[in-house]
Formats: sequence, C-alpha cells, structure tokens
Amino acid sequence: MQICILLVLMISETLNAGYFRWITKAVATQNLMCPLSCKAITGLYGHFGGATEIKCCASRSRPIWSIGKFTSSICELNLKNSVGTNHCSKNTIFYKIRYTHKYVTSIPKRLLHSNQTVEIDFNSNEIENITGSDFECFPFLDTLDLSNNKIANLENTTFFKLKNLRKLDLSYNVIQYIEPITFSYRPGSLLFINLRANILISVDVTNVFVGYWFSKLYLDYNQISKFTNQLHWKMEHVTGGGDIFMSHNKMSHLPNMSDIGFTRDSIVKIISFKYSFRLGGNPWFCDCKFSWFVPLLKFARKNFDVGGQMVCKYPISLRGKLAVNVPEDLFVCNISVKQKCPLSCNCFEQPSRKRVVVNCSRSKKYKIPSAFPQQANLDIDLSHNLITILEIQSIFKSHGCDRFII
Ligand SMILES: *[C@@H]1O[C@H](CO)[C@@H](O)[C@H](O)[C@H]1NC(C)=O
Ligand SMILES: *[C@@H]1O[C@H](CO)[C@@H](O)[C@H](O)[C@H]1NC(C)=O
Ligand SMILES: *[C@@H]1O[C@H](CO)[C@@H](O)[C@H](O)[C@H]1NC(C)=O
Ligand SMILES: *[C@@H]1O[C@H](CO)[C@@H](O)[C@H](O)[C@H]1NC(C)=O
Ligand SMILES: *[C@@H]1O[C@H](CO)[C@@H](O)[C@H](O)[C@H]1NC(C)=O
Ligand SMILES: *[C@@H]1O[C@H](CO)[C@@H](O)[C@H](O)[C@H]1NC(C)=O
Repeated sequence: MQICILLVLMISETLNAGYFRWITKAVATQNLMCPLSCKAITGLYGHFGGATEIKCCASRSRPIWSIGKFTSSICELNLKNSVGTNHCSKNTIFYKIRYTHKYVTSIPKRLLHSNQTVEIDFNSNEIENITGSDFECFPFLDTLDLSNNKIANLENTTFFKLKNLRKLDLSYNVIQYIEPITFSYRPGSLLFINLRANILISVDVTNVFVGYWFSKLYLDYNQISKFTNQLHWKMEHVTGGGDIFMSHNKMSHLPNMSDIGFTRDSIVKIISFKYSFRLGGNPWFCDCKFSWFVPLLKFARKNFDVGGQMVCKYPISLRGKLAVNVPEDLFVCNISVKQKCPLSCNCFEQPSRKRVVVNCSRSKKYKIPSAFPQQANLDIDLSHNLITILEIQSIFKSHGCDRFII
C-alpha cells in the first residue's frame, strides 16, 4: 500500500521531467517511465506500423528509481558476511542487491527486504542452477544480472512468475539448452534478454519469436546452427517483435520454413516488419535454398533494412558477396554422383529456371549415360561427345519430357 501511494506521488512529479508513466498492455510492470519524445516519433521507429510508441518505449523506458531525484528511492545492498548491515536512507522504497566476483553457487533464498528488491546483480559468480523457487521471494524483480556464471540449462518455469522482470542478463554462461516458451510467458515484462556468448547449438522458435514487443534479444556469439520447433507451434501469425542479434553463430542453411511453423510468405513479412535479425558472421552457404528467399528479401529491402549482413561464405565462387546481391541463377545445389549425376558431368538444381542441369558437354562419352538424377525438368547437355544417332533415338524414347542438347 505504502509503495503504491509513494509511486503515485513520485510519478506526478516525474511527468515534468520529460517522461510519462508507461502503462500498457504490452508489459505488466507499472514502474516504467517512457520519454515523452516516444509519443512523437515517426522516423526511426516509424516502420513498425502501429506499434511505434510501444517499440520506442520498449527500448527507451526506464524504471522510476533510475530517473532524476528518485534515484534516492533505491538502496544498494552490497552483501558481505552478514546480510542487511548496509545503511539505507529513510527514503528507500526499492532495493538492489549486489554480490559479484565471489564464489557463490546459488542465489540466497531469503534476504532482508526481499519483496522490495527490484534489481539483483550476481554477475561473475559460480551459479550453476537456477529454478523458479530461487526467485519466489522477489516478486517485483525488474533487473536480473547473472552474467559470467556457470548456468547450463534454462527451464520454462524459472522466470514465469517474475511478471515485472524487464531486463535479464545471462550472457557469458555455458547455456546449452533452453526449454521452449521460457521467455514468452504472460503476464510478463521482458524487454531485454541477453544470452550472448553461451554455447547454444540450437534455439527454439518460441524463444525467439516470443509473441510480444521487446527491445533486444542477444543470441550472438553462440554456436547456433538451427532453429527447433519442439512443440510444433504454428508461428505464421506470431505477434510482437523486436531486434534479434544472431551474428557470429554457425548458421549456414536456411531452415525449412514449414518445419519451424512458418510459410515462406509469412517469414519474410515477419522479419521485415516485426522481428529484425542481425545475421552477419555466420557461414552462409548460398545454395539453391536461397532461391525463393532472396527475391522476397529484395522486395522487402525496398523499404526496410533486412538481410544487410547476410554474406555468403560458400560456395567459394560467391564468398564475400551479400546474398541479396547474388544473381538468382547462381543459387544452385550440386548433385553428386551418388545422386545419379553421370561420371565426369556437372549436375545441379537451378530453381530460378525451374530446372536440373545435367551437363555432360565435352565429357568424351561414346554412350548415353545409363542413369540420370531422379528429378523432373532435366536439362541434359550431351554436346561435343562421340555418341551415335542410334543411341540418341533410344534415349528420346525413355526420357520424353526432358530437354536435350546433343
Ligand atoms: C513484504 O514483506 C513484508 C515482511 O516480510 C510483509 O509484511 C509484506 O506484506 C510484504 N509485502 C508484499 C507486497 O508482499
Ligand atoms: C546443478 O544441477 C546438477 C544436475 O542436477 C547437479 O549435478 C549439480 O550438483 C548442481 N549444482 C549445484 C551447485 O547445486
Ligand atoms: C515447458 O516446456 C515443455 C517442453 O519442454 C512444454 O511441454 C511445456 O508446455 C512448457 N511449459 C510451459 C509452462 O510453458
Ligand atoms: C520441409 O519439410 C516438410 C516436412 O517436414 C517437407 O514436406 C518439405 O519437402 C520440406 N521442404 C523443403 C524445401 O525441404
Ligand atoms: C558446384 O560445383 C562446382 C564445380 O564442381 C563448384 O565450383 C561450385 O562451387 C559448387 N556449387 C555449390 C553451390 O556447391
Ligand atoms: C554446359 O557447359 C558448357 C561449358 O562447360 C556450356 O557452354 C554449356 O552452356 C553448358 N550447358 C548447359 C545446359 O548449361
């Protein structure tokens, strides 16, 4: 009760300081102050059609205790040997608990003033496991810094009661697995999620396309090579959005969109208008699977900066080129001898021309190869060989639908 009354007093005064209280369906916390300038923004955030204020406040709002003279309402407790020996002024409403560069392996369960604790900074310790019960006593937690610890797994019950949690820093841990729907719980307030420099090799779509507006999700400097959709969710109508940092991972191939719950059209709309991705520093293999994606991406780029860091690493012939600048005909997938490409021929799938080329030109053949790739629309080039007319007649009978150059 006391907290509420004080808040109202503080907030009416803060209005003059260029902020307004950000009460919104977008987040559960009522402690955030958003700069008045967010009300007038058109340019920078303007392309987030309809959500400009949310997008702007998601990034730029600050908790009341970090603004102007209200900074005296928060007291920082540096835990030492005995808890609660720090001196806090009588203006104190909120607490920040700080305990860093020690060797603690878990979060202390009960701390003085725990239900008024809004920030916890436990960076650089030895914490291995976190569960929901670790945070039971901190219902008003806004900021949780557990960077530089030893956390390996995240469960979807760990944070879901922290409906005011806005800023979560788990960077520089050893996280290798995150259960689906770990961050997308509602009511909730997550706007900043930092998972940079962990050891994730995959990430579930529900932990990336979280379904609400947020500011930033850092997944860069992991080992991510694929998205999963463990719960087989349909994602094509996912709402919300934010900036996702996925550079310096191991993404080489585009995921199969239907496997991760999207359609080809829906994914391009979502990554152009809502969820923006930074994808530089990944070893992109610009093969035939890019063929449908790049034209849609080019279209989206007329208005939005998407795909700006998607640089091909393979094939060697395209190394260093921006995927959106590669001519569509060059997005091919080679077909190996194992997949029935005749020996000393060059076979590849070329979706831009809806064909599969089997190029046996100048391969010194006397006979028509006995097998061809088992695909439709073969373009077979047998020119400059030593093949007889009789041979040629027989092949036309068996391959009526394919095109030949002889
Ligand atoms: C906070 O904790 C104190 C003492 O532990 C208790 O009296 C008070 O009711 C709690 N407030 C809330 C909002 O939970
Ligand atoms: C963390 O959990 C693992 C597996 O449950 C356990 O082996 C380990 O001892 C726990 N670590 C700590 C510090 O409690
Ligand atoms: C947590 O993830 C599991 C799959 O690992 C899923 O079955 C369950 O529904 C999720 N729970 C919540 C509360 O989201
Ligand atoms: C994607 O996966 C679905 C089934 O999971 C499959 O039917 C489809 O052929 C795949 N698409 C591509 C382009 O591989
Ligand atoms: C396909 O094979 C050719 C010749 O072997 C090679 O130059 C090219 O880089 C390969 N392209 C792809 C996409 O694998
Ligand atoms: C096959 O390769 C030769 C050169 O190696 C080229 O001139 C010819 O156009 C190619 N044929 C097809 C169908 O691409």
